[in-house]
Amino acid sequence: MSIYENLLLDLNNGILTITINRADKLNALNIDTIREIKNAVQQVYDEPSVKGAILTGAGPKAFVAGADIAEIAELSEVNSRNFAERGQEVFGMIERCNKPIIAAVNGFALGGGCELAMACHMRVASDNARFGQPEVNLGLIPGYGGTQRLTQLIGKSKAMELLMTADMLYAEEARQLGLVNYVVPQEQLLNKCRELLEKIMSKAPLAVGLVIECVNAVYDKEENGYQTEANAFARCCTSEDFIEGTNAFLEKRKPVFKGQ
Ligand code: COA
Repeated sequence: MSIYENLLLDLNNGILTITINRADKLNALNIDTIREIKNAVQQVYDEPSVKGAILTGAGPKAFVAGADIAEIAELSEVNSRNFAERGQEVFGMIERCNKPIIAAVNGFALGGGCELAMACHMRVASDNARFGQPEVNLGLIPGYGGTQRLTQLIGKSKAMELLMTADMLYAEEARQLGLVNYVVPQEQLLNKCRELLEKIMSKAPLAVGLVIECVNAVYDKEENGYQTEANAFARCCTSEDFIEGTNAFLEKRKPVFKGQ
């Protein structure tokens, strides 16, 4: 029996596809679903057979239409801080994962859904996708990192506008703003994500993980990103994959990386 009630997991050729499976509620994130996402992401970290992951939503209409409003409505002051911090912890795990995680945004990505997509390393959207942070409509603000990551991804002016007006972006606008990497017809969405992941998975895994760490360091006030990069560069230079990569180039053959 699956340990997941709100997720579907499928491992194929090293890619773990995690599908949030509450289509009748537009895949809204209740607390159980957040906990299950944490467990699924932990699998991405822990299982050597998993080389990368896709996060998506069930059905043709929504990626995730936000945190579950029925649950939010019941939050007390104490619980609400805890609620935000727990979600932020899970989304931080996604962001820091040393294996690539791509959001396949198959429809509405609102509130916590937009925040979940933004925590992933890249976003591919279907042409019917809509993005937004409509929390001010509910007397709220984002709690899962939305004010921070939206500003990082699209800049202060536009982030201010979207957060204060609750306006939604169409997929193509989101692409133009740098919020999504690609927009494709819905039936091609998962294939496009797999294609991207397969390309990344053909590279040296250790180097890919260190790229993620270094790019994240740009946004971490505690880190000196240049130092992080120099350390990571040195770490690559002592890896077996570096020897393999350089030898393969000189020998005019394809490298076989082991992630060591
Ligand atoms: N939390 C809980 N339930 C949600 C939800 C959410 N964030 N978003 C949608 N649902 C539920 C609806 O209540 C409805 O359930 P019901 O059939 O039991 O009544 C079902 O999902 C379908 O949604 P519905 O509103 O009927 O679909 P729609 O096509 O008319 O509208 C949206 C789609 C996305 C525009 C609309 O659902 C919406 O605005 N959702 C909330 C978005 C939001 O504010 N997110 C941030 C939360 S902090």
